[in-house]
Amino acid sequence: MKNAKIILDKDYIIGRVDPRIYGSFIEHLGRAVYGGIYEPGHPMADAQGFRRDVLQMVRKLGVSVVRYPGGNFVSGFNWEDSVGRNRPSRLDLAWFTTESNAVGLHEFADWAKKADTEIMYAINLGTRGPENARDIVEYANHPGGSKFSDMRIANGAKDPLNIKLWCLGNEMDGPWQMGHKTALEYGRIANESAKLMKWVDPSIELVACGSSSSDMPTFGSWELTMLDECYENIDYVSLHRYYGNPTNDTPGFLARSMDMDEFIRTVVSICDAVKGKKHSKKQINLSFDEWNVWYHSREQDEEIWKREKWGPALPLLEDVYNFEDALLAGSMLITLLRNADRVKIACLAQLVNVIAPIMTRNGGGCWAQTIFWPFYHASKYGRGTSLKALVDSPVYSCADYDAVPIIDTAAVLGDDNSVTVFVVSRDLKEDCLLDLDLRAFGDLKLQEHILLHHDDVKAVNTEEHPDTVVPAMGPGGTVDGGKAQIRVPALSWNVLRFAR
Ligand code: AHR
Repeated sequence: MKNAKIILDKDYIIGRVDPRIYGSFIEHLGRAVYGGIYEPGHPMADAQGFRRDVLQMVRKLGVSVVRYPGGNFVSGFNWEDSVGRNRPSRLDLAWFTTESNAVGLHEFADWAKKADTEIMYAINLGTRGPENARDIVEYANHPGGSKFSDMRIANGAKDPLNIKLWCLGNEMDGPWQMGHKTALEYGRIANESAKLMKWVDPSIELVACGSSSSDMPTFGSWELTMLDECYENIDYVSLHRYYGNPTNDTPGFLARSMDMDEFIRTVVSICDAVKGKKHSKKQINLSFDEWNVWYHSREQDEEIWKREKWGPALPLLEDVYNFEDALLAGSMLITLLRNADRVKIACLAQLVNVIAPIMTRNGGGCWAQTIFWPFYHASKYGRGTSLKALVDSPVYSCADYDAVPIIDTAAVLGDDNSVTVFVVSRDLKEDCLLDLDLRAFGDLKLQEHILLHHDDVKAVNTEEHPDTVVPAMGPGGTVDGGKAQIRVPALSWNVLRFAR
């Protein structure tokens, strides 16, 4: 058995956890909307056609914001197609499917209310520009007495939809994007759109597109150039990152959250460098609005496109997640918590069927994938103040890193003075005895040790076997005078909940 040490103190504060880091994403892609959240005629559908079983699982996850309607999809999308009676079917050039527009802005706003979540609405800065950006904010948020606000009222919504968070396009640095731009072109159009949008509604917050991955050749220079153009009119920079394990290298795969951490730190440095250059008083924070594991479904998608290009609601990006994916998702959540001072928004991409924690079968049931569980635990117990843990852990080396700690951890002080410690063990073989120094918090007791573990890293949940990888009670340990000793099994996600 290995040993590791964690010291926590209520004064070692990283920052408040913004509840919006527990966000997710629904794109008009695959079966996310049609067959996912919406399936009229399904036995669990409500009067509007929304699946109540899916809504229940979304509410269980405590999803704070949902980014919508894309993704790559949004860069060719005309929002006017999605409101009113005339809903044209359109070719979607992002995913080579046909979009019926049966679910549009009003329906999604209704769904978001039912799901107890807020909308983070992305505008099209690919094929469109500042004029349409202005119009959609007027449509959604202006009380009335103008062309687009009156159109909203005529379409049945007397009260403004009051959307507070807006994305200025999607992944505009990527050549795959409709209307792809250089950093300078994007910075200019983002700035001009931002000005108009905020003139219509000064209460909104805006997210500018950062890099679509830390692997992009333009990463760094993209952020510097575009921020130089739009710094004073935007509020957040976006980051997107997906990881995979195509070479079946579990130790290397589990270390990928270290790359996520470096990505965040680099973007923070760039934001602050531009702040310095501009002598600005304003701080730009981060919106990590696409993060997940994504690689399992790539070959399957190529086959689907060969067979069924332009079909509606094709089963695209339906990754089936295994146990090691849940461990990396846990470490990615830990990374977000450890950067809570600057990451204020984050979206697990995505929510239903498309690289998602929740899966459905058309006409059938719905179930939780492995990655559902770390998100559920972090969203439920990871609210309050993020604490800086001092960690002394054994390390291992892998292809990309020399010293990967086997113990990956984040701690949150709840507003009820409880302390929750999230721990991923990356050790393949040995359990670890964790010494936790909690003396600064007084006489805490271990309330619960929640454990997610499976002996097979490739184990998955399916509709027939939804409980293969599910949380159980962990081995726990002892707590004496503020010092705890907890046994953390090899390869595991752990939630240690301490309270008086
Ligand atoms: O989430 C799937 C896709 O990944 C999104 O549409 C795009 O923004 C990213 O490349």
